Amino acid sequence: MSAAPLSPAEAGYHFPPGFLWGTATAAYQIEGAASADGRGPSIWDTFSRRPGAVWNGDTGDIACDHYHRVDEDLELMTRLGVRSYRFSVAWPRIQPDGRGPANQRGLDFYRRLVEGLRARDIEPTLTLYHWDLPQALEDQGGWTARDTAERFADYVAVVSRALGADVARWITLNEPWCSAWLGYGSGRHAPGVADIGRAAAATHHLLLGHGRAVEVLRAAVPSAPVGITLNLGVHRPGTPDPLDVAAARRADGNLNRLFLEPIFHGRYPEDMLQHYRDDEPGFSVVRDGDLDQIAAPLDFLGVNYYFPDTIMDAGRSHEARVAGYGVPLGEQFPDLRVLSLETPGSDTTSMGWEVDASGLTELLVRIKSEYTDLPILITENGAAFDDYVDPNGRVLDHERETYLHEHLVAVHDALDAGVRVIGYFVWSLLDNFEWSLGYSRRFGIVWVDFPTGARLPKASYDWYADVIARNAVDKMGDLGEGPR
Ligand code: FCB
Repeated sequence: MSAAPLSPAEAGYHFPPGFLWGTATAAYQIEGAASADGRGPSIWDTFSRRPGAVWNGDTGDIACDHYHRVDEDLELMTRLGVRSYRFSVAWPRIQPDGRGPANQRGLDFYRRLVEGLRARDIEPTLTLYHWDLPQALEDQGGWTARDTAERFADYVAVVSRALGADVARWITLNEPWCSAWLGYGSGRHAPGVADIGRAAAATHHLLLGHGRAVEVLRAAVPSAPVGITLNLGVHRPGTPDPLDVAAARRADGNLNRLFLEPIFHGRYPEDMLQHYRDDEPGFSVVRDGDLDQIAAPLDFLGVNYYFPDTIMDAGRSHEARVAGYGVPLGEQFPDLRVLSLETPGSDTTSMGWEVDASGLTELLVRIKSEYTDLPILITENGAAFDDYVDPNGRVLDHERETYLHEHLVAVHDALDAGVRVIGYFVWSLLDNFEWSLGYSRRFGIVWVDFPTGARLPKASYDWYADVIARNAVDKMGDLGEGPR
């Protein structure tokens, strides 16, 4: 008599052949060498010097010193076994003032990186913009100015001409929501402007820059896959009350639909246009033909996912406490009138982000049903925990293994539901500069000792190497050593 077949949870979760296992970083967060070889200042160099803007007054001046340790980092990737590495190019290394001829020494650094990856059989996945706008462009309005989209297209032309032959796939922007809404809306990120109307205008100019970049890339590297990376989320109403349902819809409009609709349906969502109609300049900056450009066909969508949101209407903080949510986490944008809540008893990371991998499956299924059937790359997923080097010289970050494990199972569930997920990049290869939180949060699968720059692979690095080697994650509860 043959035994009953094992369910995936018993047998482990196998990924499709050729699944693109990777890891991700971003230029300002790891490179350091902030004035080396002709690099100009970026908005993050300026912002991180503003008193109180970044935890501990940290800056990216040195960061992981990846600029000088690139060979060592390539070795770490080789031992990890990744098939692809997602990194970003620092625009101010290529055009120190954001315009004009290329700075050859800046290009040389990325040429060396890209050739180093190819020599190791690792596919370069290149992000053209991960938030480090040349300061000279910010001085002329930054992303609130339409001209910045044109400057971006010129920069993309320079990079694609120089590196086109070796780059496996291109990502135009990383998380334009953060650039627009944290950069110009709440002011928590560079350039530190708090003005809703300017955030809305920045949204449009970023998307326009994306559309222009796609056009430039199609001409320069016709056969290379091109996509964009969005930070998307799921917004669950805290109660079934219509006020909370409407609040969750507003949060969804701002984070998700404001980006997904123009890119995939060629229009801005009507409720959001209404919501921002009195904000100047807001979406009045949209011109005829822009949306056609923004909706240019892509080859894949990059999705960054970290946590789900539970949302209630801002006027209902008393009801939120009664419903057991505790003290609301607060309102990011007063105009949206939404409260972000923490589910009682939930696990959180050291960012305070709730751990709930089911949100990732839910998100992926929704993207497919409402927006696109394009292949999806999870271009970032990962977690910060309070890691430490133990007396045996090891970082036993089993919480991170569990987090990654659960999210990979969630990806597998989405595959089972018919979503075409073609790869997954852990954020991040290295502990690094976590924006306004400086070096206080560690997301790496490799520990970085910032005073010396020494690297030490964490337990999760070995765990991930094993996942990649087997193209599978184990069944739940079989995660290796140590207490959980
Ligand atoms: C994302 C960013 C990335 C990193 C992670 C934690 O929003 O793209 O640079 O900071 O969050």
